[in-house]
Amino acid sequence: MSKPFILGIESSCDDTSAAVILGNKIKSNIVANQLIHQQYGGVVPELASRAHQQNIVPVVQAALEQAKISQKNLDAIAFTQGPGLMGSLLVGSSFAKSLATALGVPLIGVNHMQAHIFAHFIEDANDASPSFPFLCLTVSGGHTQIVLVKSYQDLEVIGETRDDAAGEAFDKIGKILGLNYPAGPEIDKLAKEGNPKAFKFTKPKLDGYEFSFSGLKTGVMNFIHNQKQKNPSFVEENLKDICASVQETITDICIEKLHHAALDLKIKDLALAGGVSANSALRKKLKDLEQEGFKAYIPKFEYTTDNAAMIAMVGAIKFENQDFSELGIKPQARFKI
Ligand code: KG4
Ligand code: ZN
Repeated sequence: MSKPFILGIESSCDDTSAAVILGNKIKSNIVANQLIHQQYGGVVPELASRAHQQNIVPVVQAALEQAKISQKNLDAIAFTQGPGLMGSLLVGSSFAKSLATALGVPLIGVNHMQAHIFAHFIEDANDASPSFPFLCLTVSGGHTQIVLVKSYQDLEVIGETRDDAAGEAFDKIGKILGLNYPAGPEIDKLAKEGNPKAFKFTKPKLDGYEFSFSGLKTGVMNFIHNQKQKNPSFVEENLKDICASVQETITDICIEKLHHAALDLKIKDLALAGGVSANSALRKKLKDLEQEGFKAYIPKFEYTTDNAAMIAMVGAIKFENQDFSELGIKPQARFKI
């Protein structure tokens, strides 16, 4: 049989995305960002689901057009089942169910976090794909996990955050510094001209592979408060150095834990996934581990933050295994790997 065309639909949070994959080759990957949330300093769930409703039809149409195929060429519809915001997930899942029914093709529910990891298997994601078993540091706005990936079906979360996710730490600290949501990319940009050793923030002391970022957020908040009492323009005068120092601390916390796990489990292939894997310092620190004999896998930028290409990729894997979903499948706001 020739390779299947699969449409992927992603609507778990505040980006509406649709992609077409043929085998493991991406033919189109359209992402409509919702800028409306910026003024609120975070995602407003009700506004997100309304924007998904407006975006979904044009985004899917654009994905089909860019892939130069029509609906009739599709062999299956894959969509994000969860985790995510319920209202947002409902828009993508209802649309996917209707389209699969109308076209008479299989429906494939996909776990969003699993998709971030399997983005590594998209043909042009990186020079080579990691080999099983590998460790994946999955860092996004909602999750921070170290996942032991033994096969397509066998994934084990060996460590995760007790409180805030790494992306949340970037976003919340950015808010304290007066930056727009999401602050991660802005902090990354400003940090490029700052000194990462300018300020020292305390890292949490946790056993095993657990993470915690809420203490760091409070630490930065108190530090800024104290400095502003002495100099009201402290943030403006030191913004680049503060961003570089915050980024240094968050990325150190992430990489130290991953390194520790890799040594304990004797695993050489290390991968990054999720929105925060777009961070330049995190990418460099993982790459630096290659000097110790590890192999670093860092996906292409467009496959790091939320996108439907990764959903379509898992769709392609599941299609090969004839792992289809019933039409009654329900979105899951909390959905474990
Ligand atoms: O995976 P993602 O697009 O959405 C979720 O599933 O959460 O991740 C979004 C998160 C946000 O917290 C954003 O600030 C962060 O990824 N992010 C970054 C960068 N680009 C996106 N954090 C640090 N540096 C970046 N360059
Ligand atoms: Zn995500």
